[in-house]
Amino acid sequence: MITLIGIPVDHRFSHGDDLTTIIRQAINSCAELPDGLQTGDILVVTSKIIAKVEGRVVAAQDREDAITEQTVRVVATKVHERNGLPVSTRIVETEHGLILAAAGVDASNTETGTVVLLPQDPDASARTLRESLERSLGITIGVIITDTLGRAWRLGVTDHAIGASGIQVLDDLTGTTDSFGQQLHMTVVAVADQLAAASELVRAKRSMTPVAVIRGAHAWVTNNDQHSARDLIRPAEEDLFSVGTAEARIEGAHNAVYARRTVRSFTDSPVPAEVIQRALHAAASAPAPHHTLPWRFLVVVRGEDDSIREELLDAMRATWRTDLAAEGRTTEEIDKRVSRGNILRTAPTVIFPFVDLAAGAHTYPIIDGIDIGQRNDSERIMFHIAGGAAIENMLISIAADNFGSAWISSSIFCPITMRRVLDLPDTYWPLGAIAVGQPVAPARERPEIDVQSLLIRGKSNG
Ligand SMILES: Cc1cc2nc3c(=O)[nH]c(=O)nc-3n(C[C@H](O)[C@H](O)[C@H](O)COP(=O)(O)O)c2cc1C
Repeated sequence: MITLIGIPVDHRFSHGDDLTTIIRQAINSCAELPDGLQTGDILVVTSKIIAKVEGRVVAAQDREDAITEQTVRVVATKVHERNGLPVSTRIVETEHGLILAAAGVDASNTETGTVVLLPQDPDASARTLRESLERSLGITIGVIITDTLGRAWRLGVTDHAIGASGIQVLDDLTGTTDSFGQQLHMTVVAVADQLAAASELVRAKRSMTPVAVIRGAHAWVTNNDQHSARDLIRPAEEDLFSVGTAEARIEGAHNAVYARRTVRSFTDSPVPAEVIQRALHAAASAPAPHHTLPWRFLVVVRGEDDSIREELLDAMRATWRTDLAAEGRTTEEIDKRVSRGNILRTAPTVIFPFVDLAAGAHTYPIIDGIDIGQRNDSERIMFHIAGGAAIENMLISIAADNFGSAWISSSIFCPITMRRVLDLPDTYWPLGAIAVGQPVAPARERPEIDVQSLLIRGKSNG
């Protein structure tokens, strides 16, 4: 049987108090524990009194600075309302490895105008208290130091073990069998947290009962001091929820741009239709002039659109040969140039993007055969730029789905051929071709980019 006994302590703790003596006296005057502390008992102490004794109290006005000081990493920020004003709470990782609101800096159960930090090293504090009590009483006990934490997926707070000594904090049941004879594969019980939470039942928050004794849980008391509450901290590499949802979204949005790299080797796997649909949607969400949607896309999928793909690529190659011949290249040189592996023939999916100037490009009068101020040309360039924006959106979306893409220029050089094969009006301008597939290998490291070297300076900004 496990028994929980709350130990009222009629004392206002402050820096330098003799905690061992105060706790011993409190236990001695506790009617519910006439035989005092015994070997095998577990003493549970709230971190608040440990922190006060260790002098971890600061002025309330320094609270935010104290939180910043105790923070190793901001995990999430929660904005809520207090007295009609927005207040934000930082949920942070402390140097103890704990993840908790406001770094555990707390204004409850302390003098008005002050806040209490967590103990510097709660495991060390637990060890010191255990050794001191064991020495003075000639017994073997376990000590747990607790703090009250919220839980990510459940309402209500409960106590957790943030410091422990002389306690087996985890019970690894992996490899044992349950009552049905099934093997347990990943069950590791957080015993110290269970004991901490249970002790709270007899340490009601407003009762001046900062200490409890748990009797009958001696199976977890160990004089092997290898265990500490730090063992309860999940290693970072196993953490599936390392940042808050809002923070993860922001990080993901930033990283999406960098996830895109040109991928030129694909596996044979097809690209799911929804990946392409999402990519087209992303493309069509790009900025465009005159509130138009000037983009058009031909999507060719291997096994479904092979004949149009072949016809297009053959026609593009023929045009290229003609252009190279016109440049004065020899047949041998031309054969060599066009025989290079063509990713557009083998990629699982290829998207041919176009801009259609008929979607809303303005036209300007040609006076005496002259495009005054090159405005028609500029208008076409403007729509091409919008085409580039759409394609970048598309490539980022593809990368966000863990697929690879390569933007290949070839169709840009043969607009007439593209229009002829696809029977398109001459308002259509091809913007290259996007090969899409599952990358054979992870993307190469992106080289460092010196953005400063890309800046230009006008006369006025020196
Ligand atoms: C308009 C345009 C045309 C491109 N044409 C080709 C091409 O014909 N062949 C090719 O292998 N890569 C092509 N690329 C891809 C670039 O080579 C590639 O973006 C560049 O090397 C930077 O690498 P990254 O995309 O991985 O950042 C093209 C890129 C753009 C923006």
